[in-house]
Amino acid sequence: MEYLQQIKEASEYISSRTNYAPKIGLILGSGLGELADTIEPADHFPYGEIPHFPVSTVSGHNGKLVIGKFEDKEVVAMQGRIHYYEGYSMKQVTFPVRVMKALGVEVLIVTNACGGLNENLYVGALMLIRDHINMMPENPLRGPNLDELGPRFPDMLHTYDRELIELAKQVASEKGQEVFEGVHCAVTGPTFETNAEMHMLKVLGADTVGMSTIPEAIVARHAGIRTLGISAVTDMSGMEEVTHESVIKAANEIKPRFIDLVSGVVRKTTLA
Ligand code: HPA
Repeated sequence: MEYLQQIKEASEYISSRTNYAPKIGLILGSGLGELADTIEPADHFPYGEIPHFPVSTVSGHNGKLVIGKFEDKEVVAMQGRIHYYEGYSMKQVTFPVRVMKALGVEVLIVTNACGGLNENLYVGALMLIRDHINMMPENPLRGPNLDELGPRFPDMLHTYDRELIELAKQVASEKGQEVFEGVHCAVTGPTFETNAEMHMLKVLGADTVGMSTIPEAIVARHAGIRTLGISAVTDMSGMEEVTHESVIKAANEIKPRFIDLVSGVVRKTTLA
């Protein structure tokens, strides 16, 4: 079935079953999904129930849309995201962003657990994404452009919204939290990086590395959604062995500060 029709069916399925009209979207990275439990009251949509929605297969990624009230705003959160390494196409990975746009989302907060490359970072650090380096082999916009969804050749200069970055910094400073700003790089995974690869990524100018976020940010840019990217450093690349378990453990420790930061940003975001 045609992509546009799939987006329409998925968004109509959702909007006919909720009274909320979310304008803020949240994509919650590995170990950070608990934020969605604080969206209250809320309607829940397991991915498997939504027409054409891909289903997340990784443990630690729950796999449902949570739509409801958060900081007095109506939001739609992905508790569990879809990764390219699971075998999905980039069109599937970014389908939820298209559906968010169809639901009326204007602002996207896209988050991840990642490896820290910049030596100023540390396990537990939060970094606001200023720019990215896309090392994934497929661009989600490859293929015929659907003009209804956005332009053929989108500019990438303002992918990460400056005002949202400044707002997040302000929130962090009010809460006495340290936040960094830097360049995020995405690789396909599921392997973590070799030492040589980490060295290469550092030389290229990446501060953090992960297996997600950039495809969604590209599609959000294409769709005209203002985006804030937040990387949560769950390991310092090259320092010691990284496992999915160590990532989840570190994410758990970051979670309270992460929730604090995101709630502050949502509270203070002004919508059109
Ligand atoms: N590399 C890539 N992805 C990751 C990492 C990492 O070190 N940590 C968490 N996700």
